[in-house]
Amino acid sequence: MRAVVLDGGFGIEALRQVDLPEPQPGPGEVVLRVRAVSLNYRDLLVVQGTYHPKLPLPRIPCSDAAGEVVAVGPNVNRWAMGDRVMAIFMQCWLAGELTEAATRSALGGESEGVLAEYICLHEDGLVAIPEVLNFTEAATLPCAAVTAWHALTQAGATAGQTVLLQGTGGVSMFAAQFARVMGLRVLMTSGSEEKRTRLANEFGICETVHYRQQPDWEKWVRERTGGTGVDLVLEVGGAGTLERSVRAVRVGGTIALIGVLSGVTGTINPLPILMRSVRLQGIFVGSRSHFEAMNRAIQHHQIHPVIDRVFPLADAVSAWRHLESGQHMGKIVIALD
Ligand SMILES: NC(=O)c1ccc[n+]([C@@H]2O[C@H](COP(=O)([O-])OP(=O)(O)OC[C@H]3O[C@@H](n4cnc5c(N)ncnc54)[C@H](OP(=O)(O)O)[C@@H]3O)[C@@H](O)[C@H]2O)c1
Repeated sequence: MRAVVLDGGFGIEALRQVDLPEPQPGPGEVVLRVRAVSLNYRDLLVVQGTYHPKLPLPRIPCSDAAGEVVAVGPNVNRWAMGDRVMAIFMQCWLAGELTEAATRSALGGESEGVLAEYICLHEDGLVAIPEVLNFTEAATLPCAAVTAWHALTQAGATAGQTVLLQGTGGVSMFAAQFARVMGLRVLMTSGSEEKRTRLANEFGICETVHYRQQPDWEKWVRERTGGTGVDLVLEVGGAGTLERSVRAVRVGGTIALIGVLSGVTGTINPLPILMRSVRLQGIFVGSRSHFEAMNRAIQHHQIHPVIDRVFPLADAVSAWRHLESGQHMGKIVIALD
């Protein structure tokens, strides 16, 4: 079968297509014929060697796959041949609190990834694809969508509240779509004038600010909220944006710490956090239970993921280059048809 591996070192140029034996299912396992895989910012960090500098190579990258069940091992109860399924990000986080062991079961990091024509997973590490989605759309859900859903629901976001989203990548675009069906008001930052226009014209998100042209965007946020600040920030910027987010959130509001697009190192003044009683909540994707709840909402509200571009497997390197460019809006997918 065809697969893509990171081999001989780190860097996008170290990705190569190879021919590997097809996996066979053991007890409790199923084999998927993978139809589509989506990229996350994490996959760029993994390939660059910054996510896990001691990652054993060769390694198949990526966590997000959608496909159909083509082989079923002994003692499998949850799935049958032909079922349409998605892999869950952390194979061992089924429900409840996150555990140390669950963090080690993330696909495409500590564990082997999914960018292959066939993959073998435990039957517990899969969820059904909502009927309303095709394979390309389904492949975008396991990391970015579950993270956005988890962050919004964990914060207890309720209709009428205001959320600040940063940039127009996978997590933020899913959050914008979920926020709409939850009845939230969305304020959004973007570093691209063209994307701001698209946000307004295609997604009805008109309250946006250009974070490069207006680097003190937290002032804009406060103005838009009558000087109060937003109820919730989904912080995907990281070290370079967190201090501004603390000033953009209301007293008693929540910042969901999700990403590191603007870097991982820096200092932060803790005083405004405590003086303004801000809640900082780290979010690491979500459990199978979060995933299933989100899928019910996707099915009910007929939510279709925002897909920027689809690349063929043979051109996986270009998909990574596109991710690296930051020119995308929403998700980048690799098709294995
Ligand atoms: N904690 C978790 O479980 C979890 C899960 C998923 C993702 N993440 C992290 O969350 C972040 C976003 O992930 P993603 O997959 O959505 O990324 P992505 O799709 O690659 O998003 C990239 C977009 O973010 C925007 N951006 C870039 N630098 C920015 C900055 N300094 N401030 C604000 N926006 C910026 C840009 O949009 P514009 O061109 O519109 O500015 C860019 O197109 C990454 O750091 C990722 O590692 C964490």
